[in-house]
This record gives sequence, structure tokens and C-alpha cells, in this order.
Amino acid sequence: MTKGESLQQLLAACRDCRRCSLGEARNRLVFGEGNPEAKIFFLGEAPGAREDETGRPFVGRAGELLTEILREAGLRREDVYITGSCKCRPPKNRNPLQKELAACRAILAEQLRIIQPLVVVCMGLVAVHNLLMPKVRLADVQGRWFDGPGYKIYPTYHPAAVVRGTVKADVLVNDFCRVREYVEKQL
Ligand code: URA
Repeated sequence: MTKGESLQQLLAACRDCRRCSLGEARNRLVFGEGNPEAKIFFLGEAPGAREDETGRPFVGRAGELLTEILREAGLRREDVYITGSCKCRPPKNRNPLQKELAACRAILAEQLRIIQPLVVVCMGLVAVHNLLMPKVRLADVQGRWFDGPGYKIYPTYHPAAVVRGTVKADVLVNDFCRVREYVEKQL
């Protein structure tokens, strides 16, 4: 089976997930999208309104910005894989709860097992706490390399921080460039 077929099979198995209460209120589970052979895996937080409507990750304002930042860093959205730590929209866009993240962890683990990326870019504190380490401050880990099981982990800001004006887009462009250069050296 190809990686794409394995991802399709996983999606079919979790599309109607009711492991946590977010499953009742959502319109669409936002599984993730991109190249099944991607070397770079971008991990965000949880879907917002637009993602919940469409079933696609990062298609709202922060998503448009993500696409733009990828392009500026010499990456194409269709070459990477993009998903969230939590696959269903939390009410009023609050942060996902620990039990909601835990309910999604098996899906994320399977996505990583199938895709086998070289780097997971954790965008924002929810992704960092979920995949790297709890409690750490983003400023203490942003732009540093960490060893994951079979891949590197690279924490940076969520593009929503750029939308809010708390971080300059250049910081993300620079981080994404560093990740692209690392991957190019591995190939
Ligand atoms: N995670 C995010 O942060 N945003 C999305 O659109 C989907 C997942």
C-alpha cells in the first residue's frame, strides 16, 4: 500500500470519531492534507470556523498567511504535509483541552508513522506542548532543533501570532528557510 492509500484508510477509520465531545459539535473532522511523501510535517493547533466548514486545515486567515510564508521560504504547500494537534474545532476557538488532545494523539501518531517526515515543525505552544514537552515557554524553544523519534522537531510560532501582530512574518519565513535548508542537506 502507498503512503497515500494508508492515509486514506486512516481517514476512513477516524472520519466519524466520537472519542471526545468535540466530535458532537463539529461539522467536519479536519484530518490534514498535503503530500503523503512530505519530508516536512507542519503541526498546528486546532481547526477554526473555516476549517470546520471545509474539512481542510489552515484555510482561514492564518492559513492564507501560512501558504504565503511557505512560498516566501521556498516551499510549496502541496509538497509538505499540514495538520493540527486536535482534529475537531473547539467551541469559540478556545485552546483544545488535554483530554481532547489525548483523544487525537493516536491519529497524529499514525500520520507520523505513515509519512515518516524528516522534520516536524510545531507551530505554536499547543503543538509544542503536545509533541515536544509540556509547560515549556515558546520563546525558550523557538528556532531550536530537538530530536524526536525518527524525526527532528522544530518549534516556531503559529501564523495566527503574525495575524495578531505579536510576531513578525519574517521570523517564520526565516525558520521555514532553516528547515528547508536542513531537509535539502539530507536528500
Ligand atoms: N490547526 C491549526 O492551528 N489550524 C488549522 O487550521 C488546523 C489545525
